[in-house]
Amino acid sequence: MIDSPTIERVVETAQSQIVEVISEYVNLKKRGINYIGHCPFHNEKTPSFSVSQHKGIFKCFGCGKGGNAVHFVVEHEQISWIEAIKMLGKKFNIHIEEKELSTEDIYQKNERDSMLIVTEFASKFFSRIMYDTDEGLTMGLLYFRSRGYRDDIIKKFGLGYSPEQRDALTQEALKNGYKLEFLEKTGLTTVKDNNRSDKFRGRVMFPIHGLSGKIIAFGGRTLKTEPNAAKYLNSPESEIYHKSKILYGIFQARQEISRQDKTYLVEGYTDVIAFHQAGLINTVASSGTALTVDQIRLMARFSPNVTIIYDGDPAGIKASLRGINLILEEGMNVKVLLLPEGEDPDSFAKKNDTKNLIKFIKENETDFIKFKTSLLIEESKNDPIKRAQLIQDIVSTIAIIPDPIIKAVYVKECSSLLKVEEPILYQEINKIIKKKNEKESTQAFIQSQREIKESLGKQAPVLAITNPFNVEEREILKYLIKYDQLTLCEIETDEGKKCLTVGEYIVNELKQDEIQSSNPLHNNILQLYEEHYNDAEFSARKFFINHPNPEVSRIATDLLIQKHRLSKIHKKKGTLKQIEDVIGEIVPRVVLELKWKMIKIKIDECTEKLKKAEESGDFEKIPLLIQEKINLDNAFKFLSLQQGERIVT
Ligand code: CTP
Ligand code: MN
Repeated sequence: MIDSPTIERVVETAQSQIVEVISEYVNLKKRGINYIGHCPFHNEKTPSFSVSQHKGIFKCFGCGKGGNAVHFVVEHEQISWIEAIKMLGKKFNIHIEEKELSTEDIYQKNERDSMLIVTEFASKFFSRIMYDTDEGLTMGLLYFRSRGYRDDIIKKFGLGYSPEQRDALTQEALKNGYKLEFLEKTGLTTVKDNNRSDKFRGRVMFPIHGLSGKIIAFGGRTLKTEPNAAKYLNSPESEIYHKSKILYGIFQARQEISRQDKTYLVEGYTDVIAFHQAGLINTVASSGTALTVDQIRLMARFSPNVTIIYDGDPAGIKASLRGINLILEEGMNVKVLLLPEGEDPDSFAKKNDTKNLIKFIKENETDFIKFKTSLLIEESKNDPIKRAQLIQDIVSTIAIIPDPIIKAVYVKECSSLLKVEEPILYQEINKIIKKKNEKESTQAFIQSQREIKESLGKQAPVLAITNPFNVEEREILKYLIKYDQLTLCEIETDEGKKCLTVGEYIVNELKQDEIQSSNPLHNNILQLYEEHYNDAEFSARKFFINHPNPEVSRIATDLLIQKHRLSKIHKKKGTLKQIEDVIGEIVPRVVLELKWKMIKIKIDECTEKLKKAEESGDFEKIPLLIQEKINLDNAFKFLSLQQGERIVT
């Protein structure tokens, strides 16, 4: 745990040097007072990612992501807030002292952290067993060595061994104060009828590291040769392990992927390790699952170039084909390498030295058109139907590519390789795209209808459409966050004259009329403000931008970036006034606008009820409703008079 003054120091330092922090990841160019670049969070061709040094925030106008320097690191590295603080602390040489975790602390830490502590412990346990026990040495270490893995590589990947004994790990963990709850949640222990047993027994262990190097799961390989035993057991999905979102080896490979500007994608744990040992460090594996879009995006963060190196068997080829389409769809460049018959990356890497390996890859990796063609060319040579199918197949893959220039390159290649004229290919591609667009827009429509229905069913709807006051509320929050300390006016109190700030005014006004938003996030911000605005040196801007709840900080960033709306009157006069001169007019107006709209909606509802009561002859209700409507009308007139600009008829 880190103390809060240290956290504040890190946040402030990072914020004041936000351009430097983000420049490590994004190529920024100065434009006006801001810096712009290509957003690292979504694919884009024209830069819409903007960094303001002086406000200490970033914002992408394309995908909407925004926040301060810490949020950027959290988002980019996919790590927790605390981990980002630690990283930035290191960068800016701010010493971060962490307390040793007591058993009590372990209990108190939140679930995720507790699970990560347990997996860390388990990993240490598995390697201790491998190096320090007879069983571990003869079964585990010997196995890895016999497969040709060097000791430094075994260490680097944290490989270990789980003993045969039914509950060795569980017992050891409990003895050391780790909670059964987290052993179960990480899937390391299974409990059945009060019997606790280790999930992994008598297996060599491969820890799976998250992007920041934390151990999030394990794969365990059996040493038995029975055909029925599952070769690998893997940790179950959990709060810390989402199989489809992680790549095995990404932590060890990420830097080298950036450096080489290329990823080698292989199938399994042993392939990654063997490639790594052979000096091809930029290698990751999807580890037993079919490649997913999330995994592809993870690779894309480090380089747009991938070479798929799967086994040359039919299963491997099928998996490659599927991977190709997904990768192209994400706008990345993909190549495929077929290994010689009977080889997998692991076996092949062991037979070749680094130089030969790289040479072989360079000479044999092909783009998908050549790959598909080479697979089918034999059988389609003299068969026009097969040939047409092959062309159709390739064309449908080209249609997936989002970038028109890359698309054109492939059309050219396909045209020359398969001897089909380009216009014909384009015609086919456009047909496919048109069909896809039609399908997508129908699906999008169905989806949006579903979302509306779902949100209407919820008790506290958060979607904009269900809160008719979102626009007005945001406007108020904007002045609250941006200008809360400015003086709105002077007021008489018992203790004499006093300055009323914008913040105080807003809080009072909303309280007075018991105004609650139906958007929980808006309520949350107001509540936080009320709780903290009397704190020494409180700054609403800083407080909300740096707030650990990403939704809160995102709203704050959005609002701070918007231009404030100067009323028409001030613009008409020709001279734009300073915000201080007009704030006393603007803020009451935006608050009034909210109230005005709220009452207007209530009046409409009341009128509607009245109509229904009259129709159904509910004479008890009618006078009550009439009275309610009179009250509302009066309130409406009163507000409208205050508002000045609106004319009531
Ligand atoms: N895999 C799995 N569960 C299995 C089999 C495979 O999770 N029952 C995953 C593992 O991540 C494995 C990858 O799929 O690494 C590839 O499988 P395979 O080629 O069978 O294993 P190898 O990694 O080649 O392992 P080995 O060389 O030890 O046979
Ligand atoms: Mn293998």
